Amino acid sequence: MGNSFGQLFRITTWGESHGGGVGVVIDGCPPRLGLVEADIQPDLDRRRPGQSAIVSPRREADRVEILSGTFEGRTLGTPISMWVRNEDARPEAYSEMATKFRPSHADYTYQAKFGIRNWQGGGRTSARETIGRVAAGAVAKKLLRERFGVEIVAFVLRVQGIEARVDMENVRQKDVEASPVRCPDGEAARRMIRLIEKMRRAGDSVGGVIECVGRGVPAGWGEPVFDRLEADLGKGMLSLPASKGFEVGSGFAGTLLTGLQHNDAFQSRGGKVRTLTNRSGGIQGGISNGETIYFRVAFKPVATVMREQQTVDVNLKNTTLKARGRHDPCVLPRAVPMVEAMAALVLADHALRQQAQCGWGAPSKK
Ligand SMILES: Cc1cc2nc3c(=O)[nH]c(=O)nc-3n(C[C@H](O)[C@H](O)[C@H](O)COP(=O)(O)O)c2cc1C
Repeated sequence: MGNSFGQLFRITTWGESHGGGVGVVIDGCPPRLGLVEADIQPDLDRRRPGQSAIVSPRREADRVEILSGTFEGRTLGTPISMWVRNEDARPEAYSEMATKFRPSHADYTYQAKFGIRNWQGGGRTSARETIGRVAAGAVAKKLLRERFGVEIVAFVLRVQGIEARVDMENVRQKDVEASPVRCPDGEAARRMIRLIEKMRRAGDSVGGVIECVGRGVPAGWGEPVFDRLEADLGKGMLSLPASKGFEVGSGFAGTLLTGLQHNDAFQSRGGKVRTLTNRSGGIQGGISNGETIYFRVAFKPVATVMREQQTVDVNLKNTTLKARGRHDPCVLPRAVPMVEAMAALVLADHALRQQAQCGWGAPSKK
């Protein structure tokens, strides 16, 4: 249970870190969309470990294979199944975790819930599970780009106390990819990298914040009341491993303003209803208003640190654990394509839902 996401553009992910592989089934993708492995691989390359000196050194090529749902390079409208083999599994590095719970990881809660767990590499709690989402997200992004003119860009806004200055209306993926930390502010990126390297040497970890923008979303996407656009975005983001917070538009900082200061005044411009400011983050009443959608996701400092820590074993004995294995001292750079993928999955689902209920265009005047 809990392995599927979306209503009309619906995905189910499967697989564990040290099993045969990990993958996804997409149901509901419209037919006749051009789709080959090369459309998906670039996002998996941005997600994979071993891509730079500041992420986990696990050596995985993460080559995606499409098993079904396409014919001669186009989607058929039937379930699209994709997968990636696990190649660099090293279960011996996790042998202590067979009996001991890593503090602040999911070992204890999986044991408490299921009474059994795959302790090798964290099983399904590993970030390898997100391969399926990133692959499906690449399909959703293509659908959004080609059929709806929507573009999604995420970037690292903050690592611990180092915050970037970014023009989110104009930031492009190539600016983000210019640095291995995926922060488009060059000076902040250099400082972030130095901090992450310092953390790796100290056997410690750091967290931070990713910001994501969605440009070109028309007014009308989102399904009140329970499937408000921001509610589905929040669920998508908080379903990512190590994510701990979500805010849209002005978010928590907006509470420091008054209503007069905070309101986005309307203006008729270019034959459209526009707003002078965008503190709503492009969403009002759970429905997109045609302005840029933007939100932020907080990621914690990851649990697995290379220092001795107090814990408990499966026999309830107090003990200590010093982790070994390959880990990310900061998940933020690799989480950027994951945030984009979840945003694309939510927006693609709502695009199809809007079409299904209201047709191609909602009336704009009434
Ligand atoms: C890109 C990425 C990489 C991660 N790498 C690690 C890692 O190397 N070591 C680790 O302990 N956790 C890592 N995590 C986090 C765990 O998967 C996560 O903490 C675990 O599933 C428990 O969930 P929770 O932290 O949300 O409670 C990573 C998460 C992401 C998004």
